[in-house]
Amino acid sequence: MACPFNNTESVPLNPAILALDWLLGTWECDEPGEGCFPSIKPFHYTETLHFSHVGQPVINFMFNAFHAESKKPLHRECGFIRMQPGTNRVAFIIAENSGLVEIEEGELTGQQLNLQSQSLSRISFAKEPHVQQVCRVFQLRPDGKLEQTVSMATDNQPLTQHLHITYRRSS
Ligand code: HEM
Repeated sequence: MACPFNNTESVPLNPAILALDWLLGTWECDEPGEGCFPSIKPFHYTETLHFSHVGQPVINFMFNAFHAESKKPLHRECGFIRMQPGTNRVAFIIAENSGLVEIEEGELTGQQLNLQSQSLSRISFAKEPHVQQVCRVFQLRPDGKLEQTVSMATDNQPLTQHLHITYRRSS
């Protein structure tokens, strides 16, 4: 049976997500991304993004990040992207391996997505400090590279950048 995450080629794209077609495919970071936050040691990481569809008005995604040197799996996210019909309003529905689940919403302007967390929830034994807010920007640059910047606020820190990385399309 075909993998439902890998059906992008065989099913027509639903018109409801046409404005996001520039995301579809697999993206590999071209050089290690930079991670930082006032309370942690700065770090480097690699990451692969998969965006696919199965003909529904939804994009499916998986993000898998690894330690830049040891290649050990670290942060992982998966979920769905929807657009409000007739608008440029976009919603990300996200589950993270840390035990956090998020709804992020925002606007699509050209090939840039600006997202802010609308609701956050977590498993009862999630590690502290707890995330209180997430802001995320995806941008397809004129050179064809995709850029992601993530900022967060926790119990202890105001909204501050946590991640910055660029990717090249690998399929
Ligand atoms: C929306 C996505 C993410 C959220 C909400 C998030 C959240 C957090 C939080 C709350 C901390 C603890 C900060 C503190 O102790 O003050 C943290 C630390 C850290 N994050 Fe993230 N993170 C995200 C994505 C990533 C990604 C993609 C990586 C890539 C490898 C990553 C790697 C790390 C590392 C290495 C640390 C420090 C060690 C640790 O606490 O595990 N994070 N992150």
